[in-house]
Amino acid sequence: MTRVLVTGGCGFIGSNFVRYLLQSDPEVQVINLDKLTYAGNLANLADLADHPRYRFVRGDITDREIVRSIVPGVDAVINFAAESHVDRSIHDSSPFIRTNVLGTQTLLDAVREFQIPRFVQISTDEVYGSLGPTGYFTEETPLAPNSPYSASKAAADLLVRSYHHTFGLPAVITRCSNNYGPYQFPEKLIPLFITNLLNDQPVPVYGTGANVRDWIHVLDHCRAIDLVWRRGRVGEVYNIGGECERTNLQITHALLEALGKPTSLIRFVKDRPGHDLRYAIDCTKIKNELGWRPQVPFDEGLRETIRWYQQNLDWVAAIRNGEYLRYYEKQYGVLV
Ligand code: NAD
Ligand code: DAU
Repeated sequence: MTRVLVTGGCGFIGSNFVRYLLQSDPEVQVINLDKLTYAGNLANLADLADHPRYRFVRGDITDREIVRSIVPGVDAVINFAAESHVDRSIHDSSPFIRTNVLGTQTLLDAVREFQIPRFVQISTDEVYGSLGPTGYFTEETPLAPNSPYSASKAAADLLVRSYHHTFGLPAVITRCSNNYGPYQFPEKLIPLFITNLLNDQPVPVYGTGANVRDWIHVLDHCRAIDLVWRRGRVGEVYNIGGECERTNLQITHALLEALGKPTSLIRFVKDRPGHDLRYAIDCTKIKNELGWRPQVPFDEGLRETIRWYQQNLDWVAAIRNGEYLRYYEKQYGVLV
């Protein structure tokens, strides 16, 4: 059996990855260390709670004692745990520095101390900053993070790099573009707009809606991480992208059309401060070295994602109360 420690496995990408790993490899055991912040949800892995090869530990990646108690003996640590929402980092960057920077440092120290053979840092294309209308991020693009969130992720990447360089720690970094799919917390563009539209509520488009993101289905991201963890070269960075650029307005219209809702539900609201114009990933390296390709066509993935939210209204309702409503009012100035 191969033992993998996944951190942040109760969030969006982490939960999809844990399910993917347990389903695709009968020789893998997964330990999931998650603090269960507002974004962590036990319901995301409820179907696997009693799985014989799965164990959940509630804990914080900045807690050295907890980390030192579960890291010994694992074959890999894959770090998804993070504060992940740009808008929240603009309200308060403290939790971002704590979890994303100090948490990564805590994991790196334990990986070093117990000589774990592989550490994978799940990073983001946002560390590269913003593109103009042309060009792509490659692994060589200089880091130029623009939000407190992306700055905290870039800081973590640099720490990982330094532990590899100084101590020979066997680390790999992935930098992926915008994910969508089931179990995504409805603060991010696609699930926020789907869940608002399902309730006939307006959708807040920042600025003019001309900003561009490169969308990838979460399962394509999971498949890429699986390859990088097993076969990626240590000390390397691998970009992962969906090769699917869309403006936010294109996404908005696609959702309105798929759900049969009127364009009168669009609200153009105050822009995000420091809003990155465009992200686009060149993923030639992972394609050539590891034979990975994005497989899920965007239109199909978006249709399936909409269907998932329509079929999981209880999951949505359990989130859209309390803290979520307070956040919504603070961010958008209105009650959802
Ligand atoms: P998410 O916000 O949905 O989930 C984060 C998870 O981490 C939650 O379960 C939360 O409880 C847990 N967590 C937070 N702080 C913790 C701590 N101190 N200790 C232990 N657990 C903690 O995030 P996501 O969208 O699934 O993103 C996962 C990772 O992928 C992040 O590192 C993010 O930067 C990166 N990433 C995300 C995207 C995207 O489009 N969502 C794209 C590229 C990279
Ligand atoms: O690129 C990878 C990154 O993608 C990840 O590292 C982050 O964790 C993830 O949150 C995501 O960051 P973005 O800021 O690109 O995602 P978000 O869903 O917040 O916004 C996508 C685009 O939609 C962005 O241009 C801002 C816009 N937007 C977002 C929200 C929440 C709106 O117009 N209105 C909104 O209400």
